[in-house]
Amino acid sequence: MDMKIRIAIDGPAAAGKSTIAKLVAGRLGYTYIDTGAMYRALTYKALQAGIDLEKAGEVEALLPGTQIILEPGADGQTVLLDGEDVTAVIRTAPVTNGVSAVSAHAGVRAYMVAEQRRMAREGGVVMDGRDIGTAVIPDAELKVFMTASVEERARRRHLENLARGFDSDPEQLAREIALRDKKDSERKVSPLIRAEDAVLLDTTDMSIEEAADAIIGLAGKKVG
Ligand code: DC
Repeated sequence: MDMKIRIAIDGPAAAGKSTIAKLVAGRLGYTYIDTGAMYRALTYKALQAGIDLEKAGEVEALLPGTQIILEPGADGQTVLLDGEDVTAVIRTAPVTNGVSAVSAHAGVRAYMVAEQRRMAREGGVVMDGRDIGTAVIPDAELKVFMTASVEERARRRHLENLARGFDSDPEQLAREIALRDKKDSERKVSPLIRAEDAVLLDTTDMSIEEAADAIIGLAGKKVG
């Protein structure tokens, strides 16, 4: 493929976006950009600073002194926050439970969206998030809205946890996922919604390879 397009992948938590986006990017020789990691990095910084995550002004005041760099790494992407590698710590429960509050602030979103647009400018990117096709790159050549049932998403997250060496309760995970979906879909600023021109991909009964193949097939049609 000569032309390097921009692929936007949106959808609810734990639908398989990052795993599949990483695979697609690897196969196409594109850069994978996990935008959720940027909101997570800021959440981690706010928690470290002891800030009340609900207070927009306090969280937003951190932004001018914050540097978040996403570097292509061995396992997809390394996240550097003010020079510190936070790749692992931003996946822990305190960050996961706080990130919806942080990502709901309008000033935070404006900052992140501007950064993400800059990162997507050159093309040849697979970007995953919640508002990529609606707000970050609404003119992306390919938009995918990826979903899976809450139960299936909880099951996958549970297996992922086991693989990382810690146990979890799939039923509790399902409750947490449903709550995060609700918060992300109901927030006032850029809620999680499917762009009209996004292709709906329900991965409940699909393997990772099948989902990646489907996206690569769609990308192939876009580049002609
Ligand atoms: O994809 P993730 O679970 O790492 O995302 C973490 C949170 O960040 C998620 O609850 C919603 C928010 N997010 C967002 O609002 N916009 C994005 N583009 C990406 C993530």
